[in-house]
Amino acid sequence: MYNPALHQQINEVLQQEKIDIGGKDNLFYTRFIANATAIDALFRDIYGSHHQSREFYARLIQLIAKSYIQRPDVLKERDADKEAKGNWFLSNDITGMSLYVDRFCGDLKTLGTKLDYFKKLGVNFLHLMPVFESPEGESDGGYAVSDFRKVDKRFGTLEDLRKVQAQMQDEDMYLMLDIVLNHTSHKHAWAEAAKKGDPGYQNYFYIYNDRYFPDQFDQTMPEIFPESSPGSFTWNEEMKKWVMTVFHHYQWDLNYSNPAVFLDMLDTIFFYANLGVDILRIDAPAFIWKQLGTSCQNLPQAHTLLRLIKQCVQVSAPGMALLGEAIVAPKEIMKYFGSGLYTAKECDFAYNATQMALQWDALATGDTRVMLAAQHELLQKPYGCSWITYTRCHDDIGLGYDDYMIQRTGFAPFEHRKFLKEYYSGQNGSPARGALFSVNPKTNDARISGSLASLCGLESALASGDANDIDMSVRKIILMQAQSFFIGGVPMLFYGDEAAYTNDYSYLNDPGKSYDNRWMHRPVIDWEKNKLTSKEGTVEARVFSATQRLISIRKNIFLAGDYKNLTWMTPHNIHVAGFLRTFEGQKLYCLFNFRNKASYVTWFAFKEHGAAPSQLYDHWSGATFEVGMDHDYLIMEPYSFLLLEAR
Ligand code: GLC
Repeated sequence: MYNPALHQQINEVLQQEKIDIGGKDNLFYTRFIANATAIDALFRDIYGSHHQSREFYARLIQLIAKSYIQRPDVLKERDADKEAKGNWFLSNDITGMSLYVDRFCGDLKTLGTKLDYFKKLGVNFLHLMPVFESPEGESDGGYAVSDFRKVDKRFGTLEDLRKVQAQMQDEDMYLMLDIVLNHTSHKHAWAEAAKKGDPGYQNYFYIYNDRYFPDQFDQTMPEIFPESSPGSFTWNEEMKKWVMTVFHHYQWDLNYSNPAVFLDMLDTIFFYANLGVDILRIDAPAFIWKQLGTSCQNLPQAHTLLRLIKQCVQVSAPGMALLGEAIVAPKEIMKYFGSGLYTAKECDFAYNATQMALQWDALATGDTRVMLAAQHELLQKPYGCSWITYTRCHDDIGLGYDDYMIQRTGFAPFEHRKFLKEYYSGQNGSPARGALFSVNPKTNDARISGSLASLCGLESALASGDANDIDMSVRKIILMQAQSFFIGGVPMLFYGDEAAYTNDYSYLNDPGKSYDNRWMHRPVIDWEKNKLTSKEGTVEARVFSATQRLISIRKNIFLAGDYKNLTWMTPHNIHVAGFLRTFEGQKLYCLFNFRNKASYVTWFAFKEHGAAPSQLYDHWSGATFEVGMDHDYLIMEPYSFLLLEAR
């Protein structure tokens, strides 16, 4: 709703800043006025009762204006281009890769020389794992940031980052960086000031004199890293106080009930926006609001803060989309896209972590029923938002889907998860080679580490040299990627997976990493090995060329973009999961056989959604099928898939 007082306040600030509201800055001005009431309401919702609410609100208005003024013209032009495309990030044209700059190629300068590699593969979107300063040995892979604006010297300088961004922009590539919103390193200047006794900075964190509050919090807060960092608080000897550290003991949780924290972090968000970030990955947003008596995850205030960030970013840096890294239960994930008035106005992206885990479930069991039991939740995603779809990332695989999804198939949830954990950690004769991560002896919970190739059995197959096993594991790798590429959303490869890297155990020799087995699937790239991707007949070449082909097929099929155009096919076989992608009368049937044997699908499966096609063209194999009689079958090879366009 229009608010004249706000309008006036904004006009005054913009006049002071000499923003040309009637001329070149008019679009910014319009966006600001259009979002002002929402920004005001969201801010008041969280900070309205704070004793300095008005001052902080004035600072917020200033910050939005300043960030816009500082935004380079070339980015303002890029914003306009993206706006003209409308929902640019839903397109089938974008394929991402997530990588650690140092482990991939050394540093940012060298990354600039690798753009051809991405081009060859078809990747045009890079997620650079955290590059800002982070103490060696206590960095959590860069997620413990000691300076949000200084590139860690391991990677180079801020100038190097700017250069890579500019190079990528010239090549029409997109960039994703992280904002680690929930915590800082204990070496960050704010934490250092807190340690020295500065009360203002102690109020940037959750710091307590004794165990009174920590004990109460501990009763309801689940542990994130129970093995390496049990509990959610750490004793600091310098202050002689307890600090909230939900993740590792060296990651101090920021206190967002303090508006100064919010404004400082929003300022950093704008700093990243103005570096040319296209998609900002908001790390661990589920955790940013804490309240006694709750799990301190997914609280309504966390959503209010994210919405506030979104509306502010939309005003000053409208070309930057937001990805909320919420790896939470399916129902909770959906809320990160916004709800009610804010539907599709919170995070533009979330990880489809549920689908990712369900693919691993289906691969281990050869049964797709649990996957299908979850889809009614995932289909709730609003139009205009999208998923990051993936099979592996730098983190572990959590089996976080709901128990009822397992029960619907007749399996017992506890036993079923136990089976999956044993399977992927290579027990009972399983071909997978992974490991259990963060085992919680109190709850028996555990997650799974391991690379795509090793979890698909390639490591064990190569060790035994069995040609059939190698073939099966390569099929599994490609099957897993294919499903995540076509289910809707931006596919995000994890570096190394395109060249079939198996687990890298060198982390065990590094005391800064050996306590965290997620490092087994974060390889150091050997560019000699990567040359094998062009040597016909090698496993590397098979996986690389399949990945390349999947990307290129996807780029040529408009309806592979995410336009709320996904319908699941009625299952005709428990081993095969199939869905239909549609757009204006065009249809693409995507079928995936998770079984180690051939599977049969009746032709009737293709006759349920509108006019039955007479021919189906498989984009993957190039074969054309005549749709047969209802009692005849389409036969799918073990671990195979079909991308069938209706003709
Ligand atoms: C996110 C990151 C993970 C990290 C955690 C704490 O979940 O993906 O790697 O350990 O946040 O920052």
